[in-house]
Amino acid sequence: MAENHPALTAGRVAVVTGAASGIGLAAAKRFASLGMKVCITDVAEDALAAAADEVAGLAGGGADDVLAAAVDVGDLAAMETLKDWVDERFGDVAVLMNNAVIRLDAPTTEGSENWRRTMEVNFFGVVNGVHAFVPAMIARGEPAIVINAGSKQGITNPPGTKPAYNVAKAAVISYTESLQHELRNTDGCQVTAHLMVPGWTTTGGREHQPGAWLPDQVIDYLLAAIGNGDFYVICPDGEVSPEEDRRRILWAAGDIVENRPPLSRWHPAYAEAFETFEP
Ligand SMILES: NC(=O)c1ccc[n+]([C@@H]2O[C@H](COP(=O)([O-])OP(=O)(O)OC[C@H]3O[C@@H](n4cnc5c(N)ncnc54)[C@H](O)[C@@H]3O)[C@@H](O)[C@H]2O)c1
Repeated sequence: MAENHPALTAGRVAVVTGAASGIGLAAAKRFASLGMKVCITDVAEDALAAAADEVAGLAGGGADDVLAAAVDVGDLAAMETLKDWVDERFGDVAVLMNNAVIRLDAPTTEGSENWRRTMEVNFFGVVNGVHAFVPAMIARGEPAIVINAGSKQGITNPPGTKPAYNVAKAAVISYTESLQHELRNTDGCQVTAHLMVPGWTTTGGREHQPGAWLPDQVIDYLLAAIGNGDFYVICPDGEVSPEEDRRRILWAAGDIVENRPPLSRWHPAYAEAFETFEP
C-alpha cells in the first residue's frame, strides 16, 4: 500500500470542483477524513449544501473545516474570487482537484451552444482552476498536487452522441501533460499534476450496475497512484482490466501509425483485427 502524498496531510487545504456528487464528493469526504480542510464547489446548490453536511460530518473541525461555494468553474473571475475566499478562510492550498463536468449531446455538425458550454465547463473549468490557484501553490514552495479529471473517452474517442465531451477530455489530457512538464521544469516547484482517468463509475444518482466501480474505489486507486508518483492514473473497473485498457489505447494510437481509418475499433472492416489484436 503506497504512502499518502505529503500534500494529503491533516491541517492542509483541498479544493474540489464538482464536489456535490460522485467522484468529487467521495474525494472531498476522503480529504476531510484525512483531517484536511476542504473547499467544495458546485453549481447544484441544494446538492452542494447536502454535500457540505456530509463532508463536515467527517472533518476534524466539523463545519469549521468546510467551505461550500456555489461557483461555476467556467467563470475565471468567479474562480479567482473563490481563491481569495479559500485564502481568507483556510490559507494555502495543497490539493486542487478539477473534477466538475457536464455531459451534453452535441453531434459534430450542429449544436454550437452545447459545444461551447461543454468546452467552457469541461476544458476551461480545468484551465481556470489552474490559473486561479496554481501560481500561489508554486510560490508557497511546499508539496502540493493538482488532479485533473480526464476520461478514457479523451484517449480512445468512442463514437456516440457526445463527441464534445471526448474533445474536451482530449484537451484536458493534452493540457495536463503540458502543465506537468512546466511544473517539473520550474525551479523550486514542489507542485505536481496528475491525470485521473476513472473507468465506469456509478455516480449522479444512477443505479449501481454489476461491473461498475463506486466512487470510493476510484479515490482509493487515485491516492495509491499519487502516492507512487504516477502521472497517468487510468482506473480499471469490474469489466475493463488494465491490460484491456492498454490494448484499446495502443489500438487507438495504431490508427495513425498503421494508416487505418479513425475510430477503426468501431469500423466493421476492422472488427476482427481489433478482436484478435495483441499488443
Ligand atoms: N462516472 C464515470 O463513469 C466517469 C468516467 C470517466 C470520467 N469521469 C470523470 O470524472 C469526473 C467526475 O465524474 P462524476 O461522474 O463523479 O460526475 P457527476 O456528474 O457525479 O458530478 C459532476 C458535478 O459537477 C457539477 N458541475 C457541473 N457543471 C459545473 C460547473 N459549471 N461548475 C461547477 N460544478 C459543475 C455537477 O453539478 C455535478 O455535481 C468528471 O470529470 C468525469 O468526466 C467519470
